[in-house]
Amino acid sequence: MTDPWSQRVMERFGRSADRYDGAAELQRAMARQLAERCRREAIPRGLWVDLGSGTGLLADDLEQLHPGQRVLRVDGSDAMLRRHKQLARTSCLDLNKPLPEWSAAPVLLSSSFVLHWLTDPARCLQHWFERLDQGGWLILAVPVAGSFQQWHQAAERAGLPCTALSFPAVDELLDVLPGAAVRHHRLHRFSRRAQRPLELLRPMNTIGAGSSRHAPLQPGQWRRLARAWPDTGTPTLTWHVLSLMLKR
Ligand SMILES: C[S@@+](CC[C@H](N)C(=O)[O-])C[C@H]1O[C@@H](n2cnc3c(N)ncnc32)[C@H](O)[C@@H]1O
Repeated sequence: MTDPWSQRVMERFGRSADRYDGAAELQRAMARQLAERCRREAIPRGLWVDLGSGTGLLADDLEQLHPGQRVLRVDGSDAMLRRHKQLARTSCLDLNKPLPEWSAAPVLLSSSFVLHWLTDPARCLQHWFERLDQGGWLILAVPVAGSFQQWHQAAERAGLPCTALSFPAVDELLDVLPGAAVRHHRLHRFSRRAQRPLELLRPMNTIGAGSSRHAPLQPGQWRRLARAWPDTGTPTLTWHVLSLMLKR
């Protein structure tokens, strides 16, 4: 059975499926980078699976850059999977659970902006790696600890809880992997600017990524948070995103 937190996360993404592609700029940019990185390696053909595929941004880029190779698209939200192009192969699964036994071991597992939504990201990453075929590849992008420092600072200054999601630490993820498997590893910083602090959070809500484990702030508390935001002249929000490429 899916745990209540993950159920809530997937339902919220599902309710935003129609709006996702229009607002997921960061996810789109990262998907392109991951797919291009895959093109630079001679990844064998076989079973390629995109985990937490959403509307299919990464799976579509992978297929476009590797003509003839199909990508199985896995997500826990049916509404997200219904957005995929006709004839796409999809599978609705809870990624907190072990991956199913497919007819062959996957040669490529990809995942972008998903791992941090799972209840134990490091354990899932390790499991995904172990399920690769010998010589198979895993490519991943995940926001990590250190992201949203402006939001954390504003909450502290305003004496409010920070309702941002907590992200896994880079070391926590790398520690579960054999060092020799890491073929690429980079920390990207993306900063978004807006006229007003709370506008920085809007795209996350639009794409369904606004779930929080904390009780929601009241309108007055949001106003206090906005007033306490650092650099109110040009409010900024910074993501730290880890990209990893592993070969088994
Ligand atoms: C931010 S979206 C990323 C989608 C896509 N990879 C992209 O980069 O555009 C996160 C996706 O993870 C899925 N997801 C979150 N928790 C999940 C879980 N426990 N099992 C399966 N999918 C999950 C959501 O339904 C959503 O489609």
